[in-house]
Amino acid sequence: MATPFIELKHVYKSYGSVNALSDVNLTIEEGRVLGLIGDNGAGKSTLIKLIAGVHSPDSGEMWVKGKKVTHWSVAEARAAGIETVFQDRALAEQQSIARNIFMGRELTNAIGLIDVKRQREEAERLMREIGFTSKVFSPDSRVLTLSGGERQGVAIARAIYFKAQLVILDEPTTALSLTESEKVFAFVRQLRARGAASIFISHNIYHSYDVSDYFAILDRGRIVYTADKSEVPSADVLIRKLQTVARHGMLDIEH
Ligand SMILES: Nc1ncnc2c1ncn2[C@@H]1O[C@H](COP(=O)(O)OP(=O)(O)O)[C@@H](O)[C@H]1O
Ligand SMILES: [Mg+2]
Repeated sequence: MATPFIELKHVYKSYGSVNALSDVNLTIEEGRVLGLIGDNGAGKSTLIKLIAGVHSPDSGEMWVKGKKVTHWSVAEARAAGIETVFQDRALAEQQSIARNIFMGRELTNAIGLIDVKRQREEAERLMREIGFTSKVFSPDSRVLTLSGGERQGVAIARAIYFKAQLVILDEPTTALSLTESEKVFAFVRQLRARGAASIFISHNIYHSYDVSDYFAILDRGRIVYTADKSEVPSADVLIRKLQTVARHGMLDIEH
C-alpha cells in the first residue's frame, strides 16, 4: 500500500476535564475521500483541528507522508498542502469570485502589483474545469450572488489552484438543498480526480455515503468503526452502526 498522507497513532486530546479524543488511530489516504461521521460532540472538529495545526494533541503521534511530525502548526499544515473549507465563513461576500480564490495569495506582476487580469483568467479556467454549471457567473461576479453550493465551489477552486493535497470539509452541506449539495459532491469528486485526499464531515449520512470512499465513526472521542465503502452496502447500514454506537457505546461494535 502507498504511504498514507496522514497517520494518527494513539492520539489523545482533552479540554480541561473533557476528553475530546481518546486513543485515536486513523489513516488518511491519498486520492480518496474519508467520510468522518459522528454525533454532535463526538470530536470530529477537534480531530480536524489537530490535523490542520490549530490544536496540538496531548499525546500520541502524527505522521505526514511517512514522517513523524515533531512541530505542527497552521503554517506547517498549510505548507504541507492541507486546506480547510469552512461553511461560508472563509469567503468575502462583497468581493469577486476571482478575488476570493486568490485572497491572501494574490498573483502579482513584475512590479509587485496584483495581476488582476491573470487572476481573472485563472479563475475563469478553474470555474470551467471544476464544472461551475451556471453560465450567469463570471470571475467578476460577487460571491454575494452565489448559491451555497457555488460558494463551496469557490473555496474548493482555491484549494485546487494552490494544489492542496488534503482538503478538509467540515459540514459543507449542512445549510444546502439537495441540488446544491450535489454541486458540492461534484466539486469533491474533482478534488479526488486530481489526486487530493479529502475529509468530508457531515451529519447527513446519505451525503457522506454518496461522496466518500471510506468511513470512520467517532463516538465520544473514540474511533469505533472504520470501513471501506466496498464493505458497506448502503447508507442505511452506516446509520444502523451509528445507532448501535449511540445505544451501547463502542464495545458492542465489531471492527
Ligand atoms: N475549545 C473547547 N473548549 C472546551 N471544550 C471543547 C472545545 N472544543 C470542543 N470541546 C468539547 O470537546 C468535545 C468534542 O467537540 P467537537 O470536536 O467540536 O465535536 P464535533 O465536531 O464532533 O461536534 C465536546 O464535548 C465539546 O464540547
Ligand atoms: Mg464539529
